[in-house]
Amino acid sequence: MTAYQYETHEYDVVVVGAGGAGLRATLGMAEQGLRTACVTKVFPTRSHTVAAQGGIAASLANMGPDNWQWHMYDTVKGSDYLGDTDAMEYLAREAPKAVYELEHYGVPFSRTEEGKIYQRPFGGHTTEFGEGPPVQRTCAAADRTGHAILHTLYGQSLKNNAEFYIEYFAIDLIMTPDGACQGVLCWKLDDGTFHVFNAKMVVLATGGYGRAYFSATSAHTCTGDGGGMVARAGLPLQDMEFVQFHPTGIYGAGCLITEGARGEGGYLTNSAGERFMERYAPNYKDLAPRDYVSRCMTMEIREGRGVGEHGDHIHLNLSHLPPAALHERLPGISESAKIFAGVDVTRQPIPVLPTVHYNMGGIPTNYWGEVLNPTESDPNRIVPGLMAVGEAGCASVHGANRLGSNSLIDLVVFGRAAAIRAGHVVDRGASLHPINKAEVDRGFDRFDALRHANGATPTAELRLDMQRTMQADAAVFRTSKTMAEGVDKMTAIAGRMADIRVTDRSLIWNSDLMETLELTNLMPNALATIVGAEARKESRGAHAHEDFTSRDDENWRVHSIARVDGAKVDLTYRPVITAPLSTEAEGGISLAKIAPRVRTF
Ligand code: FUM
Repeated sequence: MTAYQYETHEYDVVVVGAGGAGLRATLGMAEQGLRTACVTKVFPTRSHTVAAQGGIAASLANMGPDNWQWHMYDTVKGSDYLGDTDAMEYLAREAPKAVYELEHYGVPFSRTEEGKIYQRPFGGHTTEFGEGPPVQRTCAAADRTGHAILHTLYGQSLKNNAEFYIEYFAIDLIMTPDGACQGVLCWKLDDGTFHVFNAKMVVLATGGYGRAYFSATSAHTCTGDGGGMVARAGLPLQDMEFVQFHPTGIYGAGCLITEGARGEGGYLTNSAGERFMERYAPNYKDLAPRDYVSRCMTMEIREGRGVGEHGDHIHLNLSHLPPAALHERLPGISESAKIFAGVDVTRQPIPVLPTVHYNMGGIPTNYWGEVLNPTESDPNRIVPGLMAVGEAGCASVHGANRLGSNSLIDLVVFGRAAAIRAGHVVDRGASLHPINKAEVDRGFDRFDALRHANGATPTAELRLDMQRTMQADAAVFRTSKTMAEGVDKMTAIAGRMADIRVTDRSLIWNSDLMETLELTNLMPNALATIVGAEARKESRGAHAHEDFTSRDDENWRVHSIARVDGAKVDLTYRPVITAPLSTEAEGGISLAKIAPRVRTF
C-alpha cells in the first residue's frame, strides 16, 4: 500500500468534465440547490465543446415548417435503427425547450431578420418524415456555436454557486463493495496534491476518445477518461465499434471544417470537378448523413478520382458563396482554411478528407443519464450513484451514426436530464457514507505504479502504435481481414502497457505521467472498438463491413456490451429499445414510420 495523503471533499453531486454536457449538468444541479462540484482537467472554457462549430439541432421552425416528430424520424433513420427509441424521442421533444433555455441563459445565437434564432441546413435533417426537402433545423452562433454555449454555461454555473476544481485529473472511480459509485480520486496538476470527492452522485462528462486514432478533429484532451475509469471499475462500454468520420477534416491537419459549410451551399468535387454527391444521393446530395458522405468520398478516392498530387483527398468548394455570407456565417472556418491549408476560401477549394470526429459508443445509460450495468435478465440494470452524459455516455441516441448538430443538443438535453433526475434521486438530507478506503488505496497503487514505471517503451511510442493501428484497421471501410489483424495488433499493444516507461517522477505539472494515465484510458476504449467491430458481421451506420455489406436487423439490431479487463475484451449484447415514450394517439410518432427500412438519400 502506498502512503499518499489526500484531502476529502463532500458534495451532493460531483461532475467530472466541464464541456457542454458537464456544464449543463452542473448548472442544472446547482440551480436546484444541490451542493455541486465540477472537477475538470482543463479550464472549463477550453473543453473540447469549444471547438463545436456548425450548431445545435432543434425543431424551432424559425426558417420554415418543422416539428419534433420529423426530428425524431431523422434521428432514428440516421442512427441506422440502432438508437434507443425512448432516448431519441426524449431528445427531439426536449430540444426546443433546451435551446430556448440556452437563449435565456444568454447564448449569443445568430439572428434572422425578425430577430429569431438563425437555423441552417445540416446533413440528414429533413421534412415530412424524409419525404420533403431538407429543413433548416440547426441553430447557430456563426460557426462558433460550441464556444458561445460553453462560455454562457460556465458563467451561469458560477452564478448559481457551483464549485469548480480546475486542472484536477480524475484517476479512478471509488466504488462501494456492493457496486455503487461513491466518488472519485483526483490529482491536482498544479501542486501535486490528491483529493477524494465523496458524493451521492458522480456524473461522468469526460467526452469522447477521438485521440485513440491518428487523425481526429478531437482535441488532444479527448482521451476517453470516463470510459477508462468505468472499465477499471468492472463496468461495460456500449456500441464502441461505431466511430464517426466527419467528411470534411482539413487534409493533413485534421481540423474540422463544419458541415455548416455545406449547409450554407458549399459542395464537394472530385478530380474531374464533378459534384459527385449528386450521383450517390440524388435528393440530399452533399447534405446526406455523414457516414454516407464519408463513404462516397472514400469510394471516389479509391476509384482514382481523388484530388491533389497523390489523388488522396477531395475538394470542398465555397468560392461561389458571397464573401459577405462567408464573413457572417463561416468566419471561423475561413480562418482555419487559411491557417491550416493555406487556402483563401473566396477563391480556392479546401482540401478535405474524412477524419475521426465522434464516438457513438460510450458508457451505457438510460435517457436520464443513469449508468447501466446490463445482465441477461435485466438489460437496464442501473448502477447506483453513477451517471454519464455527453459523448462519454451512450443513451443511445445516435445508434450507429450521429446526425450533425445532434451532438450539441445531446449535450444540453441529457446534461439537463441528468440534473432533473438527480433532483429526484439525490437525498439532500442524507449524510454521506464513509469512503471505501480500499478503493482509494487501489487507485493510489495504480497511480504509483505508473509514476515509477520503468519499462522500455515511452508512452508516446505506444500511443502512436495504438493510433496508427486504429486508423488503419478500424477505418471508414473495414474488412474481416483488417479487423482481425487490428484485434491482434491492439491486443499486443495493450499488453505492452506493462512495459511502459515514465521518465518524470515529480507530482507537479507532470505531463509525462498525465499522458500515461490518459493512455491507460484510451487503451480500453480502443480495444473495445476494434474487438466490437471485428465481431459485428453486418454493415450499419458508421460500421461499413466490406465482407458483410448489408444491415442485418434479424441478428444484429443489438447493442454490443464490452467489458475490458487489461488486454482482454468480453462481448455480450443487449436489446435495442424499440418502444417510443408516447403513442401516436398521444401525439407521438407512429411505429410504422420508424420501422427499419433501407436508408436511401
Ligand atoms: O460540422 C460540424 O459543425 C460538426 C457538428 C457536429 O458534429 O454536430
